[in-house]
Amino acid sequence: MLELDINDRHHRVDAPPLTPLVSILRDYLGLKGTKIGCGNGECGACTVVVDGDAVCACLLPAHRAQGKAVTTVEGLDAGGELSALQQAFIDHGALQCGFCTPGMLMAAHALRLRNPHPDEREVVAGLAGNICRCTGYRQIIEAVLACGKET
Ligand code: FES
Ligand code: FES
Repeated sequence: MLELDINDRHHRVDAPPLTPLVSILRDYLGLKGTKIGCGNGECGACTVVVDGDAVCACLLPAHRAQGKAVTTVEGLDAGGELSALQQAFIDHGALQCGFCTPGMLMAAHALRLRNPHPDEREVVAGLAGNICRCTGYRQIIEAVLACGKET
């Protein structure tokens, strides 16, 4: 039995301990916000935050998340209100198809946890593990930069 703390809720999940965390989130807990792209640590679509760090949930065996605080895109809002970061993505048109967006948001969230006011070079580095096939990245970078200036 896995014991996982996800978005400030404790879950007991009857799954094999080596099950990838992304599968626990999507298939066992119905948290479908976290996406699966490559399934191989290359695209960042599955990014979640584990104890403050951006992590590829497709690579992390779920048992290694036990005893840690896991945050997914569903945990970014506060009581139904969009977070400043989510609102900045909307305001800057930082998404098109939206497939990469949860991973981008979580990578940016992890960056802002350690550096609330990143400069452009730091934003680019913080998002380096996340691939977007649609936006060309400029709007995403601008959204994260603007969020850092406003909050
Ligand atoms: S699905 Fe995990 S990095 Fe691509
Ligand atoms: S918005 Fe489509 S992949 Fe990024």
